[in-house]
Amino acid sequence: MVMTPAIAIRGLTKDFRVSGSSKRLRAVDDLSLEIHRNSIYGLLGPNGSGKSTTIKIALGLVQPSVGECEVLGIPSTNPAARTNVGYLPEAPYFQRFLTGRELLKYFGCLSNVPKEKIQGRIEYLLNRVGLEDAGDRRVGGYSKGMLQRIGLAQALVGDPDLLVLDEPTAGVDPVGAAEIASLILELKKEGKTVLLCSHLLSQVESVCDRVAIMGRGRLLIEGSVDTLIQEEDCSSMRIDQVSSILRGSIEQLAKEHGGLVSSPSRSLEELFLELANKKEER
Ligand SMILES: Nc1ncnc2c1ncn2[C@@H]1O[C@H](COP(=O)(O)OP(=O)(O)OP(=O)(O)O)[C@@H](O)[C@H]1O
Ligand SMILES: [Mg+2]
Repeated sequence: MVMTPAIAIRGLTKDFRVSGSSKRLRAVDDLSLEIHRNSIYGLLGPNGSGKSTTIKIALGLVQPSVGECEVLGIPSTNPAARTNVGYLPEAPYFQRFLTGRELLKYFGCLSNVPKEKIQGRIEYLLNRVGLEDAGDRRVGGYSKGMLQRIGLAQALVGDPDLLVLDEPTAGVDPVGAAEIASLILELKKEGKTVLLCSHLLSQVESVCDRVAIMGRGRLLIEGSVDTLIQEEDCSSMRIDQVSSILRGSIEQLAKEHGGLVSSPSRSLEELFLELANKKEER
């Protein structure tokens, strides 16, 4: 049996009406992407480049103008596409008067977590997102980072196969952000797929298998992180126990053949800025 992708997006365009005018704003422009199962996929781009809109369309929360999406092999227009998906929206709105524990119980019920398992699942998740001491406090009193953490626990409560996390580390302190990164890696080890939007590029570089960078609704580049950060016409090799003599000989040989020995890899951040600046020049 051929495994369908976790998310397939084909020819997606979304125009929003600009309020108070007859103009339209193209938030997503002819976007096609495939996100393979059991991978961590980063959707990147400057503010307003169409990432959250793409996610909302894939999850059936916003209607596309043109194009189609499938989630776990089911068209996004079918609510069944969302049954095995956990979603952390970019600006989650939670019932302020519920405590963290109550909130997870509520979302656990919505996600059909069996009654006898819910309590254990709540305690496990509060621990996993570092909120074990705040579980009985009302969500209305949570700090920004705490709201992100409870939002992440909410996305995980039904133990879904696909997690869509729109800026899970926004407002989270560096230690918390590192914990979330290791949680995402653990989720992949458990066989899950994670689609992640984040502006923390160094973290994206360390956790994602593939990334897509968007600019003004369009796909600017897509590929595996290793390939994208490898500079063109450069190759890297690892040579252990390099003596200065060996290095000198290699450099000499490269020079004789018109080459240059240097450190070839750039960071994802450098690539992102290069693409974003190119976009500005247009
Ligand atoms: N409901 C809406 N009505 C009108 N315009 C919208 C709506 N939602 C998004 N847009 C516009 O679509 C464009 C893309 O927005 P989107 O939220 O997808 O960007 P983003 O890449 O997620 O940005 P950020 O990094 O700031 O979260 C923006 O210009 C935004 O103002
Ligand atoms: Mg967004």
